[in-house]
This record gives sequence, structure tokens and C-alpha cells, in this order.
Amino acid sequence: MSATSSSASPEIIIRHCNGLEELEACVQLQKEVWGFDDIDIVPSRVFLVASKIGGQVIGAYQGDELVGYSLSIPGNRNGHVYLHSHMLAVKAPYRNLGLGRKLKLAQREDALEKGIELIEWTFDPLEIKNAYLNVVKLGAVARRYNINQYGSFSSPLQGGLPTDRLVAEWWLLSERVQAVLANHDPTPFRLQETIAVPAEIYSWKQNSADRPKAAELQNHNREKFLQAFRKGLVTLGYQRDERGNGAFLLGHWDETWSYAKH
Ligand SMILES: CC(C)(COP(=O)(O)OP(=O)(O)OC[C@H]1O[C@@H](n2cnc3c(N)ncnc32)[C@H](O)[C@@H]1OP(=O)(O)O)[C@@H](O)C(=O)NCCC(=O)NCCS
Repeated sequence: MSATSSSASPEIIIRHCNGLEELEACVQLQKEVWGFDDIDIVPSRVFLVASKIGGQVIGAYQGDELVGYSLSIPGNRNGHVYLHSHMLAVKAPYRNLGLGRKLKLAQREDALEKGIELIEWTFDPLEIKNAYLNVVKLGAVARRYNINQYGSFSSPLQGGLPTDRLVAEWWLLSERVQAVLANHDPTPFRLQETIAVPAEIYSWKQNSADRPKAAELQNHNREKFLQAFRKGLVTLGYQRDERGNGAFLLGHWDETWSYAKH
């Protein structure tokens, strides 16, 4: 993996994490970023196993300090090996400098070296920033929706809501991903459905008086995603406006990448 540094944040190096001490630093950063109860923490033993069985533990380092990491584990669908990226975290003061994207690009480079063409991960469709990063900055698509994937979750980021997740599929060699990574527009598509997420969702989730509004939106959008995916639609675009509102844009994908059984 090549070491990279960003003009916005010089001296930050992206590289594989090595040894138990570095894996333990990932666990500490996990606690800081998600604020999980101890029972929900992914322990360093799992990071170690992931790194030994063909997964990835990749860190962003400023000097000796870990300021971001990603964890992925190998998966197999219908005979095809792929990677499932379980966590991506950047320390709060280092966000919005492009490090999240760089950690994903390092995952991609390492995956391609291993002959792997798909990285998947799940994300909360109510998280506007994550959706924008995944769809627009990385070119991932989504066409599967998991209702309450993890059951209840102690992270304050979840705001006590069911852990609904979209499955991001990052087809590393697709025309779409190659275009996005080269800063070109992906192939245009006919817009068939829009699923909106208002910027207020963040405060609704954090404030117990407003939480019913967040739950109502989650239910509403869940139905829209499930219906759209039944019709074969795929999230191919994401719009944000100057107020911070987000919206998924869905249509038919003209590429045929899939490991599903036909
Ligand atoms: C998700 C996370 C890893 C992203 O890391 P990051 O280093 O901030 O990401 P990047 O800087 O590469 O990209 C973020 C993009 O989202 C944009 N963004 C920031 N806030 C936003 C918002 N509220 N709505 C929409 N887009 C937003 C940024 O401007 C940036 O895009 P740009 O480069 O075009 O300006 C980081 O925010 C984090 O650790 N979050 C908490 C843990 C988490 O949710 N992890 C992901 C799920 S496992």
C-alpha cells in the first residue's frame, strides 16, 4: 500500500496497522468515536483475526498518533470472495479533510492487489454525511435494505432508533466507480425515485422530545427503500442542499455487477 499525505492535513500517512499495540489504539478510537457501552465494543482480538485472515486493518497516522482507521473482514457470496468493511472512523478534529475517503481508497488498492473486486459495508441511511461520502465521493451503490440489522445499539449516534442499514456495494472496477474516482460524472440515469432526509434528523435523533419525528421518518423512508428495491431501483445519486438536507436519487443501473444468484 502506498503511503499518502493530504495537502489539507500534511504528514498524515495511511498504512496497515501492525502489532497488538496499534490494534489496541484502534479500539480506543472506536470508543471515542461511537461512545459504545463496553459490551458493544469490537475487541482488539477481532482486529487481529481480521488482519490475519485476509481482512484489512488500515490506519491514518499523524506521527505515532492514530487519527482514523478502517476494519474489514473477508466474506464469500455464492463462491465470490469480497470484503465487508465493518468500521470507518476518523477522530473528530480530523474530519472533513478527506481522510475518510483516503482510508476507503487504501482499502480499494489493497483489495485489488488481493484480486478482490467488491467491498461492501452497511450504513445508516439517515446519516446524510455518510450517504454523501459513500454515493457521491466513492461511487458506491445500494439496492438492499436491512431492517434493524444489529438490534438495539448503545452508540449515541444511533439515537435509540432501530439499526436500519443500507448495504453499500463498492464495485471497485465498475465504470461508475472509476469515473467517480477520476472526478468525472458517472453515466447519467433516468431519475425514478427520490428519498429525502432533512438536515434536522441529527437534532431529532439526539433530542428525546423530537425522537418520534426521527422514528417516523425512518419508517417512511424504510417503506420507500423497500418498495424501490423490489422494483429493481438502485441508489445512484445523492443530493445535498445549502441547508444540509440530503436526498437519495434512485434509478436503474446500467452496469451488471452482482454476486447474487440469478
Ligand atoms: C464517516 C467518517 C469516517 C468520514 O470521515 P471524514 O474524514 O470526515 O470524510 P471525508 O472528509 O473523506 O469526506 C466527508 C465528505 O462529507 C462532507 N460532509 C461533511 N458534513 C456533511 C453533512 N452534514 N452532510 C453532507 N455532507 C457532509 C464533507 O464536506 C466531505 O465532502 P467534500 O470532500 O466534498 O467536502 C467520519 O465522519 C466519522 O468518523 N464519523 C463517525 C463514525 C461513522 O459514522 N463511521 C461510518 C459508518 S461505519
